[in-house]
Amino acid sequence: MKQVEELVLPVGTALDRFISRHEEQFPFATGELSQLLRDIALAGKIVNREINRAGLIGVAGAYGQQNVQGEEQQKLDVIANIRFIRALRNGGEVCGIISEEEEDIIDTGSRGKYVVAIDPLDGSSNIDVNVSIGTVFSIYRRLSPVGSAVTMEDVLQPGYKQVAAGYILYGSSTMLVYTTGYGVNAFTYESSLGEFFLSHADMQMPKSAQSYSINEGNYRDFSPEIIEYLDYCKDQKYTARYIGSLVADFHRNLLKGGIYLYPETKSSPTGKLRLMYECNALAFIAEQAGGKATDGKRRILDIMPTKLHQRCPLYIGSVDMVKQVEGCLAKKNEMAWQS
Ligand code: AHG
Ligand code: MN
Ligand code: MN
Repeated sequence: MKQVEELVLPVGTALDRFISRHEEQFPFATGELSQLLRDIALAGKIVNREINRAGLIGVAGAYGQQNVQGEEQQKLDVIANIRFIRALRNGGEVCGIISEEEEDIIDTGSRGKYVVAIDPLDGSSNIDVNVSIGTVFSIYRRLSPVGSAVTMEDVLQPGYKQVAAGYILYGSSTMLVYTTGYGVNAFTYESSLGEFFLSHADMQMPKSAQSYSINEGNYRDFSPEIIEYLDYCKDQKYTARYIGSLVADFHRNLLKGGIYLYPETKSSPTGKLRLMYECNALAFIAEQAGGKATDGKRRILDIMPTKLHQRCPLYIGSVDMVKQVEGCLAKKNEMAWQS
């Protein structure tokens, strides 16, 4: 018979404790970034609750309006946007917020030294069908003096300037994955305790795998180089895995290896995904986990943004696979240069 002690399993390190412990490693840390991460985690718990009971409280379905990018907003897009903005405003660590669901910068009026870029709910087509969706966030240090109004320069910073980035995945379990530039750690939500606990420490993405994620419905709109790569994947009998929620597709590849591709298409000549709300955060995490992210020509983190809702092609995941796609696309760039 088992000893009672053996049945009492440890619950592990809570997110709060983990954040505090890591803050202690930086002698001049003021605790503001830590508090900001806690605010995001709290809003994530609230959004998780809204998603879980969406069908019961009448918040499933379309909101009936389009966002600034001309996309049909779902009620939960709007709810998640409100929840995160409210948490960030009330927290006081953030002077400005940019959101996929908002046309302009939100000036919180706070003296905080950080700005946040957020995709409050990612995976709109999966919101009402009980398939994994997520939240993606990037945190930057403001450039303008504390106390002044937030500026466009504060929020339009290249991805390599991120001080932290992460995502919350509302999936078969809810997870918060983040980096502050010292590796990637993931926390699984224990709903009965209302806490995130460290479940995946210092994550590393496999260097290569046999799985690719792309919306192949766009096949006829892809460039010959991408078609060539996709044909290669089929010749190699790679497994196709496409959920249609970037966060979920990325998370699977982070754990198991693989590549996610969203190239430019005829209808989206600069790609579909948003540099500030989606690509930068995931690129930071990918690199921290030993992976790679490019738009086909440049490292995602080196792109200098020129507008809030800028889109870019995205190739992200296992380092060797992303390099291979980069090689295919380099042929195209070379031909364009020669002609
Ligand atoms: P969002 O729901 O935030 O607008 O993002 C949707 C994005 C991303 O999550 C996903 O990978 C991609 O759109 C799917 O696009 P397709 O439907 O064109 O495949
Ligand atoms: Mn999105
Ligand atoms: Mn979204």
